[in-house]
Amino acid sequence: MPVDDFRFVKTKKRGKRNTDTSPKVLVTASSEGHECSINKEIGIRRILLAKEEVATSEFYSTVLIKLNQGLNQLDFLGVKKVVCYGLGHFVECVGARYQFGLLLCLKDHFSASVSVFDPVFYSTEIEILRELGCEVITVNEEGKHKLSPEIVTLVYLPHCPKQLTNNFLWTNWGPELKNCIIFSNSFSKIFESQPKRILNTSAGYILNIIPHTKELSINNSFRYRDIFNDIALHIFPQEKLSSVSQVFWNVHEEPKYTADETEFITKKLISSLKVEN
Ligand SMILES: C[S@@+](CC[C@H](N)C(=O)[O-])C[C@H]1O[C@@H](n2cnc3c(N)ncnc32)[C@H](O)[C@@H]1O
Repeated sequence: MPVDDFRFVKTKKRGKRNTDTSPKVLVTASSEGHECSINKEIGIRRILLAKEEVATSEFYSTVLIKLNQGLNQLDFLGVKKVVCYGLGHFVECVGARYQFGLLLCLKDHFSASVSVFDPVFYSTEIEILRELGCEVITVNEEGKHKLSPEIVTLVYLPHCPKQLTNNFLWTNWGPELKNCIIFSNSFSKIFESQPKRILNTSAGYILNIIPHTKELSINNSFRYRDIFNDIALHIFPQEKLSSVSQVFWNVHEEPKYTADETEFITKKLISSLKVEN
């Protein structure tokens, strides 16, 4: 699967000689200055083809069935808003293009508003997103997006760094989580992926919410097996949240991550790269 334009950049620590111990951070050619070679019209045509393929797939039918199951359990009629982080370079990367296709299918299906952010977007990608009716978030929220009260929000994080999900949970830590559905890497797979002691730092809020989460798995029947693998829907039903004491929500320290979290792009990293350039 092509992911052509990624490059590794080393973050420099001020006052330190190059001992090669500094973390390597995966960033792409930034949307400022560096552009992709694909023009907007070709990009849009490819995305609409991908959307069509998703719309007619068995996989998409399963997603809708599971989403409706989740909505029924939450007593909601539909999704009003979708927030999507970490789509990646959908003009160049086949996987991201199909993930974007799915986003557009869900947007149409629910007549939902869609807000999208990825710090690596090219300006052509931003234009395409806007042309296809998506709002582009203009600041790096680092996943800390506050849910709007009473609005059912689908949070779509396709193959995203777990820190984005963790930050989202931290920002909305409380019974209002019942107003969202998180469509992301499976929490139970995250739980199995690393020792608890490590996850406590990088994904403590995910770990803590797992007992109060209902995970709806989705059979990965899509033609390409590495585009929607390991993702699941997560809901926080009232009956699970009502057993939670206030003390549980009160433990609410802002997450801090170590510098070796290579996939998660922070505001700090972007500003340090700007200083270097
Ligand atoms: C593993 S890639 C997944 C890309 C694509 N969804 C896919 O599956 O091919 C993780 C994505 O998360 C994005 N990302 C990292 N930090 C982010 C942030 N602070 N906000 C939004 N997206 C972020 C990266 O730029 C990258 O596109």
